[in-house]
Amino acid sequence: MDRPIPGQQAPPNPPGRQGPAPCSTAGSTANSTTGTADPSASAAYPAVTFAVFADNHYYDPALGTEGPLFYQDLLRNRDIKLLKDSPEILEQALEEVTALKVDFLLICGDLTKDGEASSHRLLAEKLSEYSRRGLNILVINGNHDVNNRHARGYRGNRRQRGGSISGPRFAALYEGQGYGAALERDPASLSYLAEPVPGLWVLCLDTCLWQRGYREEGRLQPRTLEWAESLLDRARLEGKALLAMMHHGLLEHYPGNKKFYSAYVIDDFLSIAEILARGGVKVVFTGHFHSQDIARLITGDQEAFLYDVETGSLATYPCPYRIVTIDAASQHMHIQTRRITATAGRRRGFPDHAYRYCYRLAQGLAERKLRGLWVSPRDCRLLAPQVVAAFQVHGLGNEEKAEQALDLKGVSPWGRFVIQRKRALLEALWEQTPPPDNHLGIDLQTGDFRPPE
Ligand SMILES: [Fe+2]
Ligand SMILES: [Fe+2]
Repeated sequence: MDRPIPGQQAPPNPPGRQGPAPCSTAGSTANSTTGTADPSASAAYPAVTFAVFADNHYYDPALGTEGPLFYQDLLRNRDIKLLKDSPEILEQALEEVTALKVDFLLICGDLTKDGEASSHRLLAEKLSEYSRRGLNILVINGNHDVNNRHARGYRGNRRQRGGSISGPRFAALYEGQGYGAALERDPASLSYLAEPVPGLWVLCLDTCLWQRGYREEGRLQPRTLEWAESLLDRARLEGKALLAMMHHGLLEHYPGNKKFYSAYVIDDFLSIAEILARGGVKVVFTGHFHSQDIARLITGDQEAFLYDVETGSLATYPCPYRIVTIDAASQHMHIQTRRITATAGRRRGFPDHAYRYCYRLAQGLAERKLRGLWVSPRDCRLLAPQVVAAFQVHGLGNEEKAEQALDLKGVSPWGRFVIQRKRALLEALWEQTPPPDNHLGIDLQTGDFRPPE
């Protein structure tokens, strides 16, 4: 048994209570029909191989990728992304998964930098080109993709309003990447149901709040949850195996994830994860935090489980994506991580370029944050690299705990005071909670995992 992240394991039955434990979080709007389902009765998964991308943040280069305002906005919006390279990175990744002849590809949201209409148009054209070549692509929206006030371009020393797209326009643009062939569409959101191979249903869940403009946080709206629950029931009746994808995290990926960065795990996450687990969804693919991490939930009565496989941003070093294979005979899922090591424009030296570019932005961001707290330039030089290291280590996955999370030698009393208030977060980011994050085997019948072969 792995050590769960605090709060990650649903509570056990209270003494004397029979049957499955109830959802633990108050205020859930879910009905109880799927909460009493017998997960062992869920259908067997068919043999399949698929790829998973997240947060590719495609950016139309014609909107401008240089100048002080561009960099100022990158730091202000915490955009540690290889935006200039994003079209070539995506193309390389699409080439690789096409060559592998995967059955389908999931893209877990944040398809564009900030929902710019021209970025979406170019991306939709590119994805359609690969769809025509036989790559079955399913997308879902991320928080950056729709009704985003940050959509803009840069001309010299001027910002230009870029114009974002609406929810209906998103579904229309990606008609060939999930929406057109959807078995069902949720009237209340951009969620839909796909059957990319016979016998396998993929619930593509819109966890974003685009109806209210740009929001970083995520939520499964009550009506969308009801819609999803009805499909869980139908899947059981029709003998369909279930997977899901969504942009925001469904489980915590480090101790205190929801407390430290509440916008990165959906509201009511434990009760919703438990509903999905009991309804037969065994693995959910997510993105948003730009990190490689896999977390597991086991229900309090040990009868159901669910994995949240979070994939790092394709546009941020080390530019990872996943290849997932299910063996029908053994009902084992094998998750493998690959990284982009070259693009058309950089056949050599791409990882080094990606690392240095992202590191420089991350360093600038950490310094900006610390300076905002009146930390001296000298203390910033000592502390910023340590802050960056914690996020980098978490982002790569399989964190190896440093002997000492923080070295405060030479730091002034004020610098120490400021960083001590962040110590719990930095230590949590260094924490490796099982299972392993990059390569993993999952027994889809028992929920056990095994280390990479
Ligand atoms: Fe993102
Ligand atoms: Fe996001």
